[in-house]
Parts: sequence; structure tokens; C-alpha cells
Amino acid sequence: MTVSDEKRQLVRYLFFRLDPVWRRLGPDKQVEQKIELVEALRGFQARSLLRSYSTMGTRGDTDFMLWQATEDRETLQALETTILSTRLGGYLSTPYSYLAMTKRSIYEFPDDPEHDERISVRPQDSKYLFLYPFVKTRPWYKLGQDERQGMMNEHVRLGRKYPDIRINTSYSFGLDDQEFMVAFEGDEPGDFLDLVMDLRESDASAYTLKDTPIFTCIQMSLWDVLDSLGGASVSELARFTEQDAEGFVAVAKVSELPPGSSKRVYNGADAIALFNVGGRVYAVSDRCTHGRASLSEGFIDEDGCTLNCPWHEGRFNVATGEPVGGPVRVTLKTYQVKVEGERVKVR
Ligand code: FES
Repeated sequence: MTVSDEKRQLVRYLFFRLDPVWRRLGPDKQVEQKIELVEALRGFQARSLLRSYSTMGTRGDTDFMLWQATEDRETLQALETTILSTRLGGYLSTPYSYLAMTKRSIYEFPDDPEHDERISVRPQDSKYLFLYPFVKTRPWYKLGQDERQGMMNEHVRLGRKYPDIRINTSYSFGLDDQEFMVAFEGDEPGDFLDLVMDLRESDASAYTLKDTPIFTCIQMSLWDVLDSLGGASVSELARFTEQDAEGFVAVAKVSELPPGSSKRVYNGADAIALFNVGGRVYAVSDRCTHGRASLSEGFIDEDGCTLNCPWHEGRFNVATGEPVGGPVRVTLKTYQVKVEGERVKVR
């Protein structure tokens, strides 16, 4: 296989900042606009990898970030155009944007065959993503391959002290201002801090020209990202909260859930994913039992009964909630559903 035959992905880290004026809109408008944005992005999950992260509480100059990886070049532009075409998009600016591409490493890591061998991005379910653009000094490229390999070996050895921190490197040479985009995933910010301090003492560190700005990004579903921005919470969507005599609560209108579609709704504080599979409606907890994905952004297989999580290929039986594939181990909560007139009810 030649390099050009390999299906390399374009990778984009796209940061958004919300105009504070938006927070002065009425709560109804805020909720409507959040829903409109999530609905507009429905379908991008199927065409590309799309992860959402909040930077509220970690950076002062940006509010959230989308990590997109795709082989379909048109999708990169389509995603940004779609977001900025929504009403909420009218209040968003993009203070940072980084473009890169996957590529096999030119270094060898015989003890770690997975290291940088992947040409498709496969994020973990870690809570944090630590991200920065990276540029080496030109003298680095004048060094011989053996010398550089030796310094990379030291890097790997230091990295092994922190097995829960996992690196994703993508390449920007000629595509964007930086040479690499370096993205570490992990659950403990302290582990990453210690790793970076160790790496400062490595020989290769002397050849770093630039490795800022650094972003600490918190992974969450797009719904939770939008709620992290402030304003009215989408959980305030719970429009019909009265129980009927059998304990069912109306959560949606039938017309809002055509066959083949899915929808996130609320029963009190519980987020529920509804799926209309050939006219039959299923209801399961919206939060995947593996990570933090919103299952209403997932899809049902052609078999009509397997629900696919949008994040790590976790699979559930949508009727029983039992795990049937991928990394999921814990059964998903299911709800009973009844359709009465125009109302979809759950309990
Ligand atoms: S969040 Fe990992 S499989 Fe669903």
C-alpha cells in the first residue's frame, strides 16, 4: 500500500467563544437555540468523528471546543458553516482553530506498537483533553535519524510512568501554522502536569520552539457543553411533568419523532433518548454507561434493535438495555413507553 492509498483523516480542533450578550436573551430563546444547534449537528456524527469539550472554568478566552476527524474533506467546512448558520451561531466567534492530518510516525516504537501507528483518530473516554500546537526548532531536523530516535525513546520511557495519559499526535506541516497538534487524554490533570514537568528535562525539550497555547478541555456531550455556557438549561425542557394515573409522563409529541429518528427528552432531571424504530418507540437513559456520550446522538442498526453509541462503538439492545458489543459492560436503564394520541409517554 502506498502512502496515498491510506485513508488518512483531516483533524480539526475548533474553539468557540460565546458573546455574553446571548446570556441576556430570555430563557425560552436560549433553550430553543441550544436545541436548534444540537439538531443541526445531528448527522455529522455519522460522517465524521465529532467530540465536544467545554473549556468553561479552564480558559478565559474560549468556551468550548469541537474535535473533528474525517476522511471527507467537505465535512470540515460544512460543520463550521452549519454551526454559524444557526441562531446561536450568530453569537459565536472562533478564537482558535487548528488543522492537522493523521500520519504514521517516522519513529519506531517496538515496545509500543500502537504508538502513533494509527491513521484514524480513536479517542478514549477520558474526562480531559490537554491540547497544544507544537513547533520544533529547525536544528532538530538537521539531526540524524538515530539521534532523534534516541531522544524519542527517552520520551516514551518518561511517558510510561503515566500509563493513564494517552497521546494523539496529528501533523500540520504546510497545512497550518504549527508542525504538530499534540493532544493528550487523561482523567487526572495532576498526572499530565507531572508528565510535562518530566518532559521539560528531556534532551528533546531543547529543540522545542513553541508549545503554547495549552488548552485543558473537559469532555462532555454537546448538550452538556451548551448547558456549561450558562443561560437556561435544556433540562428545563421538561414541558409536561404531570403523571397520568399509571405513572406515565408525557415527554414528546409524536410529530416530533418520525420513524427512523431519535430525540433527547427529559423526565424531571433524567435525560432520556427516544428512538422511533419503524413506528415503535423505545426509551433508554440518554447517558451511555461507558462514558459520557449522549445516546440520542447515536443510531439504530438496520436490524432495528441494536443501539450504537456515537463515541466508542458501544452497542446496546435498545429494547432491554443489555450491552451487546464494544466496550460497554453495564446495562442501560430502559423506560416503558406508551403513545396516547399525540403524546409519547414514558415511566
Ligand atoms: S461512551 Fe464509550 S461506548 Fe458509549
